[in-house]
Amino acid sequence: MKHDVKNLTAEQKLRLICGKDSWHTEDLGGILPQLRLTDASMGVRMQDDRTGVDKPSVSYPSMQMLANTWNRELAEEYAQCVADDCLDYGADVLLGPGINIKRDPLCGRNFEYLSEDPYLAGTLAKAYVYGLQSEGAAACLKHFCCNNAETNRLQQSSDVDERTLREIYYKPFETACEAKPLSVMSSYNRINGVYGSEYKKGYDVLRGEYGFDGLIMSDWDAMRDRTAAAKAGCDLEMPFRADNYEKLLQDYKDGKITEREIDICASRVIDYVYRCKKLSSGKKRKFTLEQRIEFTQKAEEEAIVLLKNNGVLPLVEGTSLAVCGLFARPCAYGRKSPDLICGGGSGRVTRLMPTFDMIELLRKVHGANVEYEPAFSEDGVDSTYMDRGRAVSNAAAQDINIVFAGTGARIECEGGDRATMRLCAAQERTIIDTARVNPNTVVVLFAGAAIDMSAWINDVAAVLYVGFPGENGGNAIANVLTGKVNPSGKTSETFPVSYDDMPAARTYKDSNVTRYGEGLDVGYRYFDTYGVRTLFPFGHGLSYSKFEYNGLKLTVKDSGELEVSLSVTNLSERDGKETVQVYVRACAPRVYRPYKELKGYAKTLVRSGCTELVNIALDKRAFEYWSTAKDSWTTDDGVYEIIVGASSRDIRLTSTIRIEDGKITVLK
Ligand code: BGC
Repeated sequence: MKHDVKNLTAEQKLRLICGKDSWHTEDLGGILPQLRLTDASMGVRMQDDRTGVDKPSVSYPSMQMLANTWNRELAEEYAQCVADDCLDYGADVLLGPGINIKRDPLCGRNFEYLSEDPYLAGTLAKAYVYGLQSEGAAACLKHFCCNNAETNRLQQSSDVDERTLREIYYKPFETACEAKPLSVMSSYNRINGVYGSEYKKGYDVLRGEYGFDGLIMSDWDAMRDRTAAAKAGCDLEMPFRADNYEKLLQDYKDGKITEREIDICASRVIDYVYRCKKLSSGKKRKFTLEQRIEFTQKAEEEAIVLLKNNGVLPLVEGTSLAVCGLFARPCAYGRKSPDLICGGGSGRVTRLMPTFDMIELLRKVHGANVEYEPAFSEDGVDSTYMDRGRAVSNAAAQDINIVFAGTGARIECEGGDRATMRLCAAQERTIIDTARVNPNTVVVLFAGAAIDMSAWINDVAAVLYVGFPGENGGNAIANVLTGKVNPSGKTSETFPVSYDDMPAARTYKDSNVTRYGEGLDVGYRYFDTYGVRTLFPFGHGLSYSKFEYNGLKLTVKDSGELEVSLSVTNLSERDGKETVQVYVRACAPRVYRPYKELKGYAKTLVRSGCTELVNIALDKRAFEYWSTAKDSWTTDDGVYEIIVGASSRDIRLTSTIRIEDGKITVLK
């Protein structure tokens, strides 16, 4: 029998909205089904309920890497695999996807988030939610909102103007809500002074404007005042905290919260429990465990970004290799080793399989001599087995030198931000010293966010960004290095020359308040508007193929949508995938608008020597902005440029349209 609030006592309802323990919802002694919640971000982090130890589970490339694929279908499949992992562990709810905007490259959780751009983050999150829920696990979008840094996250107030909230920070939530996620998690931080768990104004937007009809839960231990949060519309506190519950009960007895107010939260919890159970009821796994592990390789192969290449990659058969850096062989360095190739905190997944060994894999795939020297640890402090001199002499003696460098879970971790965007001094030194003796130096980067490469980028021949690569990521890296796979990932965030170039580095910040003074100018919006040089722009990624863009054609469809069509020709000898990006620019805006904004993209396989037609539809919303004067989305009449690029800075084709009374006319 299905229960509703009418059958419950006030006390039962109060218990219901406070969770049961760390990971379960309250079942009121078996009256209601009970949900098991679990983390997220690189797969499933399933804690053993008795011991609190994480159980091994498939480790996927991190969310940042998923975003680098620019592939919605892949995002959907990724989530379907994770939903199968949830079924394996009996988890009803996955506490993800994390869709906070990467405002600041130092944020310790950037590896868990998708992008600096709300359109890219929103569209991928929508595909993810759809994939996850269609396979039986409920999604929980997090963290609503403006949890864009970790320092003092329980107190920090993110002070943001309304237009920026709408266009940048709420936007991924708005788009993802189209896939009907069953839940949203509030954030730890305050938003314009109000705690995330009491953010009624934002919840009202979610429910009133974005069609969100699910449950809002608190982040873990984020509750300051359960009564105030319930009144604001935060339905469920997680995890259970006896003192918060006792206080809530007392507040109820004192008349500080009415039964009607409690009923609203309690009915949402009941509704949530039944909806989640319905999602998974009768669901069979779509993929076997082996298929999911294989998928981690496929995802990583599409995610790896070739940032720089002077022609040294792909490796020519038979060339001898000098390899250095602890990251090449994390498996060999004991207990700490897996920390090197993943981020830390609640998003960390205990891998199923032993960590890969790039030396073994390269010997297998490349088939040539490989000389190895660890040379450095992630922080440069641990000097066991590390000999920079030997790395340099190896580099001098071999054809190609590959440095495996990066950050890892001790540097990129929930609860703190990175101190610097640079690699540690020992890593930079090794790159510089080995590149000096071997100009064919390739740097392979394991990290969860952008890296400042200013100290060494001009010395090296190629840079391959592999992120946190997941279970079978080693094969993907070897395949891209050797050319068995043609790289097709593109950056989902700008790589600035140095941190000081970031607007977030220069706006007001103290121990309690972060002022988002850059407003809309987040990521490439800032770099493009102000013409600031980047190290690698947003949307950038090289391929072993060369693609030519031709024949841009704009057509206004009967639906009112603008169809952007063009052809992409692969001029190379290899098949390759290309991501075409469409940006919109308001030519003479009546209010401030960033120089251009991403409004469409498509990733296409183009066989060697062939041409593919690419169609990207822009709906009316592609031209609007949030008008603070009207308190609504607005599209002004005027001329707009349609900009087609291979990155935000590699513009290939442009055309213009005019909008008059909402009607689009193509100008050229
Ligand atoms: C994190 C959430 C996570 C939760 C449960 C919190 O510390 O911010 O993202 O889902 O813990 O582990």
